[in-house]
Amino acid sequence: MEHDDILVKVENLKKYFPIYGGILQRVVGYIYAVEDASFYIRKGETLGLVGESGSGKTTVGRILVKLEEPTGGKIFYNSSDITNIKGSELKKYRRKAQIIFQDPYASLNPRMTIKDSIIEVMKVHRLHKGEEYNNALKLMEKVGLSEEHLYRFPHELSGGQRQRAVIARALAVEPEFLILDEPTASLDVSVQAQVLDLLKELQEKYNYTYLLITHNLAVVRYISERTVIMYRGMWVETSPTKELFNKAEHPYTQALLKSVPIPDPEVKKDKFLISGEPPNPTTPVKGCPFADRCPYVMDICKNEMPPVESIGDEHKVRCWLVNKK
Ligand SMILES: Nc1ncnc2c1ncn2[C@@H]1O[C@H](COP(=O)(O)OP(=O)(O)O)[C@@H](O)[C@H]1O
Ligand code: SF4
Ligand SMILES: [Mg+2]
Repeated sequence: MEHDDILVKVENLKKYFPIYGGILQRVVGYIYAVEDASFYIRKGETLGLVGESGSGKTTVGRILVKLEEPTGGKIFYNSSDITNIKGSELKKYRRKAQIIFQDPYASLNPRMTIKDSIIEVMKVHRLHKGEEYNNALKLMEKVGLSEEHLYRFPHELSGGQRQRAVIARALAVEPEFLILDEPTASLDVSVQAQVLDLLKELQEKYNYTYLLITHNLAVVRYISERTVIMYRGMWVETSPTKELFNKAEHPYTQALLKSVPIPDPEVKKDKFLISGEPPNPTTPVKGCPFADRCPYVMDICKNEMPPVESIGDEHKVRCWLVNKK
């Protein structure tokens, strides 16, 4: 069942990157980075987007903030189709949707103080004219930093402080929707939970909507109401997070849960112990994307895409085994 308080919805999103070759640098093939991403996120909710490295998560995030054009599919924001917006509409949307990447060091200009980085963003969007400094100060407080940090360069901050500064800069444009792409993966284990707590606290206070991209199931369990599992550019299961941990139906999700014991979010455990080769993204998917590595594979799996089965309130799965039950 879907709800009418949906902020973001994507339908059958696809992204193929051309591969160029030969002397003439012609298109000789494609990387099928995203084959079908479909999900929705309610206002004020956190949706986890989980999959191993190379499954297309960052590409989905980049499409959502319009750094990348989708090859196919649709994006809706507040019920409006924003797939092809341009000009002033695009500029408006770019303020509402912000992305925070894994590596805070790469996201900040190393030659600018935190103050200048934050004020620059306000100036670009013509916000808080004449009040930029006071607002930068308020943002520091919001993210658990203080005035002195405004005068630091990125290299003068710790990893956790740098990510807080990146969050402050993203919040400077007063966004509604934040895409958090592995926001704690580059941080020391001891500060990962602190940054997740900050994100939770900000959401409770200001009702931000999050898409949390991660390969770490402990992180989604800690922070996401619902979760989407992606494999090779395609969603394979989506469910309320609690239910996913109790009764995952897709063999890939089950394998993920088995290979990653989830004690608490402070413990870093990122190994995916699934046998077989990781998928090759240069051939299009035929049938089930997990067929090469699935212990339960049947003939039909290799040739025909499994249909979407609804197996509970907001719990859907794409697997022939479930279909035949
Ligand atoms: N700009 C690009 N050009 C070509 N291939 C890309 C580009 N960005 C991502 N890819 C490829 O798309 C696939 C998905 O990448 P990505 O979205 O970064 O996955 P994830 O974030 O889940 O690790 C990978 O095979 C990656 O190499
Ligand atoms: S459709 Fe077949 S190959 Fe794919 S996950 Fe289900 S059982 Fe395994
Ligand atoms: Mg990524």
